Amino acid sequence: MRLTTAVAGISLAGSLVSASSSPEELVLKAPSDGASPLNWATSPPYYPSPFAQRAIDDQWAAAFAKAEEFVGQLTLAEKVNITSGIGWMMGPCLGNTGDVPRLNFSGFCLQDGPLGVRSTDYISAFPAALTAGSSFNKDLLYERAKALALEHKHKGVDILLGPVAGPLGRQAAGGRNWEGFGADSYFSGIACGITVKGIQDQGIIANAKHFIANEQEHFRQYSEWNRHWGYEDMTAILSSNIDDRTLHEVYAWPFADMIKAGVGSVMCSYNQVNNSQACQNSYLLNNVLKEQLGFPGFVMSDWGAFHSGVATVLSGGDMNMPGGNITPNPPEGPAYFSSNLTLSVLNGTVPSSRLDDMAVRVMAAYYLVNLDETRKEVGGPSFSSWTLDDIDNLYNGEGPVAVVNKHINVRTDYSDKIAEQLAVEGIVLLKNVDNALPLKTDDNIRDLYYDGKALRKIGVLGVAAGSHPNGPNCQEDMACSDGGVMASGWGSGAVKFPFLYTPIEGINARAIPAGIQVDYETRNNAVENNWKEFDRISSESDVVIIVAGASAGESFLEVDGNIGDRKNVSLWYGADEQIKRASKLNSNVVVVINSVGPVDLEQWIEHPNVTAVLFSGPQGEFAGEATAQVLFGEVNPSGRLPFTIAKDEKDYIPILDTLIPEDHGAPQDNFDEGLYVDYKYFDHHDIEPRYEFGYGLSYSNWSFSKLSVKLAGKEKPSEHLPPPPALAPVPNYNEAIPSPEELVFPKDFQKFDKFLYPYIENVSQVTEGEYPYPEGYSTEQPETASLAGGAPGGNPALWEVAYTAKATIKNEGPYGGAYVAQLYLGLPQTDEFQSPIRQLRGFEKISLEPGKSTVVNFDLLVRDLSVWDTASQSWIVQRGTYTVYVGSSSRNLELKTTFTI
Ligand SMILES: *[C@@H]1O[C@H](CO)[C@@H](O)[C@H](O)[C@H]1NC(C)=O
Ligand SMILES: *[C@@H]1O[C@H](CO)[C@@H](O)[C@H](O)[C@H]1NC(C)=O
Ligand SMILES: *[C@@H]1O[C@H](CO)[C@@H](O)[C@H](O)[C@H]1NC(C)=O
Ligand SMILES: *[C@@H]1O[C@H](CO)[C@@H](O)[C@H](O)[C@H]1NC(C)=O
Ligand SMILES: *[C@@H]1O[C@H](CO)[C@@H](O)[C@H](O)[C@H]1NC(C)=O
Ligand SMILES: *[C@@H]1O[C@H](CO)[C@@H](O)[C@H](O)[C@H]1NC(C)=O
Ligand SMILES: *[C@@H]1O[C@H](CO)[C@@H](O)[C@H](O)[C@H]1NC(C)=O
Ligand SMILES: *[C@@H]1O[C@H](CO)[C@@H](O)[C@H](O)[C@H]1NC(C)=O
Repeated sequence: MRLTTAVAGISLAGSLVSASSSPEELVLKAPSDGASPLNWATSPPYYPSPFAQRAIDDQWAAAFAKAEEFVGQLTLAEKVNITSGIGWMMGPCLGNTGDVPRLNFSGFCLQDGPLGVRSTDYISAFPAALTAGSSFNKDLLYERAKALALEHKHKGVDILLGPVAGPLGRQAAGGRNWEGFGADSYFSGIACGITVKGIQDQGIIANAKHFIANEQEHFRQYSEWNRHWGYEDMTAILSSNIDDRTLHEVYAWPFADMIKAGVGSVMCSYNQVNNSQACQNSYLLNNVLKEQLGFPGFVMSDWGAFHSGVATVLSGGDMNMPGGNITPNPPEGPAYFSSNLTLSVLNGTVPSSRLDDMAVRVMAAYYLVNLDETRKEVGGPSFSSWTLDDIDNLYNGEGPVAVVNKHINVRTDYSDKIAEQLAVEGIVLLKNVDNALPLKTDDNIRDLYYDGKALRKIGVLGVAAGSHPNGPNCQEDMACSDGGVMASGWGSGAVKFPFLYTPIEGINARAIPAGIQVDYETRNNAVENNWKEFDRISSESDVVIIVAGASAGESFLEVDGNIGDRKNVSLWYGADEQIKRASKLNSNVVVVINSVGPVDLEQWIEHPNVTAVLFSGPQGEFAGEATAQVLFGEVNPSGRLPFTIAKDEKDYIPILDTLIPEDHGAPQDNFDEGLYVDYKYFDHHDIEPRYEFGYGLSYSNWSFSKLSVKLAGKEKPSEHLPPPPALAPVPNYNEAIPSPEELVFPKDFQKFDKFLYPYIENVSQVTEGEYPYPEGYSTEQPETASLAGGAPGGNPALWEVAYTAKATIKNEGPYGGAYVAQLYLGLPQTDEFQSPIRQLRGFEKISLEPGKSTVVNFDLLVRDLSVWDTASQSWIVQRGTYTVYVGSSSRNLELKTTFTI
C-alpha cells in the first residue's frame, strides 16, 4: 500500500524517501536559491534505545525495582500484550492494551483527555488548558489537574492523555492550540509540570503529548489529508524541520519539565521531524527524549502514528496505540505490534532485551504512581467509550453482551468549584475605558417613579451569547457551527457537557434580582440581513454586551471550512460587523470574546464606544456564569493573555495549508523563525502588537517596586554543566528466545475478528534471514550519560537555583483582587548565541486587599540562564550580563536590574 511503503522507507534510513514513484529525486533535492536552509532537513540515526533504569532518580528507583520483578515473571506473549493496543473499539477505553490473565493483571485503559473524561457521562466539562493557562495561577493549575484526574480515576482510567505541550502555539491559527496552556516554552513547562504532578498524585499516569513539533493539523496524517480531505497530491506527512537549538530551547523545553515532574508516558506525534516520522525518529526518541531529557517512562504512539514495527521499536517506540494501522481512518487493520512484535523477537530481529525495556518502562510508570493501589480502590473502567447504552457487545459488534456502562457519577462539588474558578480566573480584561466595567447596579432602580441615571437596561447580542440550537452537546466531539456560547474547541479534546451556562443566563441571574431589564437577540444578523431587532436593542440599552468567539479543533472534523486549523483569525458569525454597527448606535459597547487563540480586533478595538473587552479561551460548563461574575464585579479579573494578539495578521506564522510543486507533495514546514516564537518574534522584529503575551488589566491599580537579585549559593554557575551522575550498569536481561511453538494461538482460543493478539498462527511465520537494519544501528549501550542528561529532566545541575529575585507588589486600589507579577530575563547577546531580547522566567499570582503590599519571590534555575550549545550537545551558562525585568506583561515591565556572571 502506498502509505505503508512510503513511511516505512522514510523511517529506515532516516532519509527523505517519500511515496513518490521516484524517491531519489526527492532525496537529492538540495535547498534551491532562497530556500530555507532547513528545507529537506534530515535526522541522523541514533541507536540503540537506552535502557530506562540506567539514569533514574530517587522518585523512580522503587518503581523500577517492582517493575523489573513483575516483568521478570512475564512470558514473551505477556510482554507483547502490555505494550500492544488490542485494536480500535476492542476495549472500553479509547486505547486498551492486552491483559496478563495468568497474573490477574488487566491491560491499561487510556482515555482522552486533557479537558475531561471524553466519550462518557456524569463527568465535568472543565475549561480548556488555554483558559486554565490564562489564569497564570499555579495553585489553581494544580487543583485543575487534580480534579480532572480524580474524575478519570473514578471512571477507571489508568492513563489520562494529557497534558499538551505540543502544539505550543507557534502558529496562531493552529487547530489544537487551545488544548495547551500558552505559546511560551517556559510558561507551558511550568503549567505542564504542575499538571503532571496534579494528575499523578491521584494515582493515575499522565501523558506528555504530542512529541514533538505537532504545531498544525494540516497534513498531519496521510489517509486523513490525502484521502479524506482530498489532497491527492500529498505524498508524505508534513515535516516540521527544526534546528537543534530551537528544538531544545523551544519545543522540547516543556517536555523536560514534565519528565522532571515524573511523567510516566510520552505520546509521539503524527508529524515528521526533519523528514522522519516523529514516532520513528531514532534521534528524537533515543537521543533527545530518552538520553538528553532522561525520560524513564514509555513512549506511546498517537492514534495510528506508528508506521512500522521493527523500525519503530528500534527507534524507541514502546507502546502501540490503539493497535492497528491508520488505514483506514479511524484506525483499524493490520498491526505493527501484537503478533508482529512477537514475530520480530522470535526471528531475532528485535533484541528481546528491547522488549524487556519496553515492558519495564510501562510497568515502572504503573508502580511510580501506585496504580496497583488505585486499581484496588476503583476496580477497572466502568464505562464504554463507544455507547451510552447499558449493555453492548464487548468487541465492536462481536463478543459477549455485557454491562458496559454503569453510569457512575464522578462529578463532585470539588470539580464544580475548580471548573468555575478557572473559568473566572481565565478571563482577561483587555480594555476598560473610564471604568466601564464592572457594571454598576443600583439598589433603587425598582423604586416607583425611579428617575436616576443607573444602569437599567442591558442589551445582549451576538450568536455566542446564547445556546446552540441543538443544545450544549450540539455535535459529536463538539464540531458545532450555527452559534451558541463557544465553551470548547472540537476533536478528541472535547467532552460531553453535563450542563452549560450561557452568557445570557449568567447575566439574567444577576440583572433580574437587581431590577435591570435584559433584552437580547442571538441571530447572525449579517447572514440573515435582518438588523431590525439588533438596531433597536443597540439604541435602547444602557449597555450593549456583544458575545463573540472563534473555534478550532482536530482535523478529523471540519467546521465551516475550518479543517482543524482556523482558516482565518477573525471572529466567527459576523461579530465584527455587529460590533461596528452597535458602536454607531450606543456609546457603551462591551465585547466578550471566547476564542481558541488570537483573533483580529482591529476593525473596532480603538472605537471610543467600545468601552470594554473581555477575552478568554473556551471556558467549559461554567462559561456564561463566569463571564457574568466578572461583568458585575463579583470577581476582579486577573487573567493574562497566554499569547500575543497582533495588529496585523501577517505577523503571525501562517499555517502551511497548500501543497507546492517544489515539495513534491511532501510538505516542508521550516521553522525558520527559530527561537522567535510569539512575543519573542514581535520583540525581535520590533513589531508593536495589539496586546502582548502576559497582558491583562484589573479593576484595581497595582504597582511594582524594589527589585533585587541575589546569587543563591556560594558560587556563580559554571559555564559548562558538571558531569551528570554515572549510569547504572546495563540491566541483565535474558536474551534467550523462546521456542516459537509456545507462541502459537492456544488450542481452542476464541478469537474475535478485529481483536489483536500476541500470538502467531503457526511457526512457519517465523522467517529467517538478514534484516536490513537502518544505517547507524547498534546494540552497544553507552558507557557514560550524555552531558545534558543523566537523570529525568536532564542533568540534575540544570534544576539547581542559581539566583533569586524579589520585588514588592502593591494593590493601589480601589478593589481587592489578584495580579500577576512576571519576570523576564535578557541573556547576554554574543556572536555565537543570539537570543530573544527577553524571555519569561518567572510568574506569580498575588491576591491583595486594596492598600496592601507584599514581596514576590522568584527562583532562577541554572536552566533558566542557559542556552543550548549544539557543539557540545549540552547547556551553557554564558559569561556576561543578564538583565532581569519584573512587571505586568512582556512589554510593560516596570522594574529592571542586571547581574553579571
Ligand atoms: C534537523 O535538522 C537540523 C538542520 O540540519 C539540525 O540542526 C537538527 O539537529 C535536526 N534535528 C533532528 C531532530 O533531526
Ligand atoms: C493477551 O491479552 C488478551 C486480551 O486480554 C488475552 O485474551 C490473552 O489471554 C492475553 N495473552 C496472554 C499470553 O496473557
Ligand atoms: C504484520 O505485519 C504485516 C506487514 O505489515 C501485515 O501484513 C500483517 O497484517 C501484520 N499482522 C497482523 C496480525 O496484523
Ligand atoms: C521478523 O519479523 C518482523 C515482524 O513480522 C518483520 O518485520 C521482520 O522483517 C522479520 N525479520 C526477518 C529477518 O525476517
Ligand atoms: C484480581 O484483581 C482484581 C482487581 O484488582 C481484584 O478485585 C481481584 O480480587 C483479584 N483476584 C485475584 C484472584 O487476585
Ligand atoms: C473566518 O472564518 C469564520 C469561521 O469559518 C467565518 O465565519 C468568517 O466569515 C471568516 N471571516 C473572514 C473574514 O473570512
Ligand atoms: C457613539 O455612540 C453614540 C450614540 O450613543 C453616537 O451618537 C456616536 O456617533 C457614536 N460614536 C461613533 C464614533 O460612532
Ligand atoms: C486607578 O486608576 C484609574 C485610571 O486607570 C484612576 O481613574 C483611579 O483614580 C485610580 N485609583 C486609585 C485608587 O489610584
